[in-house]
Amino acid sequence: MKFDIAKLRKYIEHKNFLKRIEYFEEIDSTNTYLKNSNEIDRRLVIADFQTSGRGRFNRKWISNKGENLTFSLGIEKFEIGLITKLVFLIPTVIHNSIKELYDLEPEFKWPNDLLLDKKKFCGILIENIIDNQKSAKLVLGIGINCNQLDFPDEISYRTTSLKKILNNEINREKLLAKIIDNLSIHWEQFLRDQMQYYYFYKSKCFSIGKLISILFNEKIFTGIFKDVNENGELILQTNLGELIFNSGEITTIKE
Ligand code: BTN
Repeated sequence: MKFDIAKLRKYIEHKNFLKRIEYFEEIDSTNTYLKNSNEIDRRLVIADFQTSGRGRFNRKWISNKGENLTFSLGIEKFEIGLITKLVFLIPTVIHNSIKELYDLEPEFKWPNDLLLDKKKFCGILIENIIDNQKSAKLVLGIGINCNQLDFPDEISYRTTSLKKILNNEINREKLLAKIIDNLSIHWEQFLRDQMQYYYFYKSKCFSIGKLISILFNEKIFTGIFKDVNENGELILQTNLGELIFNSGEITTIKE
């Protein structure tokens, strides 16, 4: 079904958080669109289908037409020092929205995937364009599997959707409105103090304390996932000592 932007506007309670909402039945990628646009501050772009949806590491983000949420939000003049801490805020906002609407408790997979039943249903791609020494433009891209039931074979064993978990059709407009409202509630608070988001993130972070491997720059490192530091970096305890990663893909070896 086509995403209903009028319904979305009606559901959003914090009407002033967004400056503009745009909808595309089809687009290359909502992130690419905002990255190439001017005046992106608080602009929300939603698409029912992306022909070149992108994930982290330039992977494809594939999502059936009209079944899921694929959207991006632009933010301007964002303090550069806080970029690494967004990894604590955005998953928290999505977690709270899912918890409030469906009483589910997603876990976070470092750095910013969300899991249900240990399977991914939400991915986040944060891109930034540095303006000057102090501030940056941000594009926060989010993909949430809502009503898709079948996934390509290569990913089906590690992918899920809200409908798969709940056996119920998800009201995409309601979920997106809840996410925007929660973002609006937490935004100023986050800009003032990131620590409560940091602690919440860690409390939901899947695999801390477990034996994991991490793929980074085409190399695999194995060790105990010791912690996430205040900059969102993963600390891995290996035979060679502690290694710190600011990106990568983790796999849990032993639960
Ligand atoms: C990941 O898990 O690797 C991140 C996936 C992010 C996908 C979203 S969908 C909306 C936005 N537009 C894109 O092209 N990507 C993000």
